[in-house]
Amino acid sequence: MREDFCGTGKISCEWVKLSKKNTAVGLDLDSETLRYAKGVNRSALSSSEQDRVRFLKQDVLKPTKEKFDWIGAYNFSFYTFHERKKLLKYFKAAYQSLKSKGTFFLEMSGGEGFKETLHESKNFNIPGHGTIQSVWQQHQYDPISQLNNYSIHFKLPDGTWMNDAFTYYWRIWEIREVREILEEAGFNKTVVLWENREEDADEYLPQEQGDYRRDWLAYIIGVKK
Ligand SMILES: C[S@@+](CC[C@H](N)C(=O)[O-])C[C@H]1O[C@@H](n2cnc3c(N)ncnc32)[C@H](O)[C@@H]1O
Repeated sequence: MREDFCGTGKISCEWVKLSKKNTAVGLDLDSETLRYAKGVNRSALSSSEQDRVRFLKQDVLKPTKEKFDWIGAYNFSFYTFHERKKLLKYFKAAYQSLKSKGTFFLEMSGGEGFKETLHESKNFNIPGHGTIQSVWQQHQYDPISQLNNYSIHFKLPDGTWMNDAFTYYWRIWEIREVREILEEAGFNKTVVLWENREEDADEYLPQEQGDYRRDWLAYIIGVKK
C-alpha cells in the first residue's frame, strides 16, 4: 500500500506488522517529519518489517512508478488542495499509481461542528514527563471560499506554551463533490463508509444516505476497474 501525506508514517509501520506479505511506501514533502518516520517509527520495527517499508520525499500530485493495491490519505490531508483542478490532478495521479482493481481511501471530516469556531482541550499523561495539554482550535470559517484555519497548541509540563505547533489551512470539501471528482479522475465506482453510532458499534458501513450530524468523519473509497 501507499500512505499519502504520511507524516511520521505510523500507518505504514502498522501495515507491515499485520502480515509478512504486506509492504508500504509513505510519501510526504517534509524532510524533518520523514526523518522522524525513519529514525523513530521505522527503527522500532523488526528488521524484516523494516525491509518492507520505505519513505519517500515526494509530492502526491506526481504519480509513482510503482503501482499499489491500495492508497490511503488520512487526517483530511487532501483538504490542503483548495482548487478543484488541483484535487482532480491529485486523484488522477493516485488513479495512475494504482493497480487494476486497486482502491483509494480518503478520510474526510465535516459538518457544522467542524466549521464553527472552537477551542477543545485535552490532557495527556506522558509517563516520566508529566501532563501535556493539547488544544485543538478552529478559526473563523469563510462560507464563500469554504476555507478555514485550524491549529494545535500545546502546554508542556513545565508550563511552556507552544502556540500554533501545527497549523492547517483547509478547504472543507463535501462528500458529494469529492465523489464527482473521483469519477472524473477515472474511478469506476465510489463508496462512502458512514459511521454507525449505535451503542458500542465502532464501525463504518457503506451507505448512500447519511443521517444529519453536526460533525462527522467518513471514508470515501474510489475503486479502479
Ligand atoms: C495533516 S498532516 C498528516 C500527517 C499524517 N497523515 C498523520 O495523520 O499524522 C499533513 C502532511 O502532509 C504533508 N504534505 C502536504 N502537502 C503534500 C504534498 N503535496 N505531497 C506530499 N505530502 C504533503 C505535510 O508535510 C504533512 O506532513
